[in-house]
Amino acid sequence: MERHRPWAEERACAILAEHQHLRGALLPMLHALQEEFGYIDDAALPLLAKTLNLSRAEIHGVVSFYHEFRRQRPGQHVLKVCRAEACQSMGAEALIAHIQDHLRIDFGHTSADGRFSLEAVYCLGNCALSPSLLLDDTLHGRVSPARFDALTAPLVQEAAE
Ligand code: FES
Repeated sequence: MERHRPWAEERACAILAEHQHLRGALLPMLHALQEEFGYIDDAALPLLAKTLNLSRAEIHGVVSFYHEFRRQRPGQHVLKVCRAEACQSMGAEALIAHIQDHLRIDFGHTSADGRFSLEAVYCLGNCALSPSLLLDDTLHGRVSPARFDALTAPLVQEAAE
């Protein structure tokens, strides 16, 4: 099921208005826009600049600095795979190679069918159960390649139906 709405300027303006009273409103606005649309559309930058009386370059600088802000619409399912030390030591790289091979995507990309996006994260606070990943915001630990296949099989199946 699609979790995000398509980009709509009117809705974006309403979101900005809802957060305008906050001190340091830019980050809350960016988080709210990403929550709503799944990413920060290019068209949001001039709206933010105008609302906050900042330059587009300043907005762009902030959006680029924080890696959690996506600049492209994500796939229907977002996989965030931990690449930090504890997960690395428990086979994260082999898992990542399997995922990339299985979905035919690299980090920062979305599969050709729009089904999955793959993102790297650095510690999910689940080190005791490494290697870990988030699949659509649900945390999974001790993820082997076989377990990854089992987790995603229903989603691949759903696409084929
Ligand atoms: S290092 Fe991966 S969850 Fe902490």
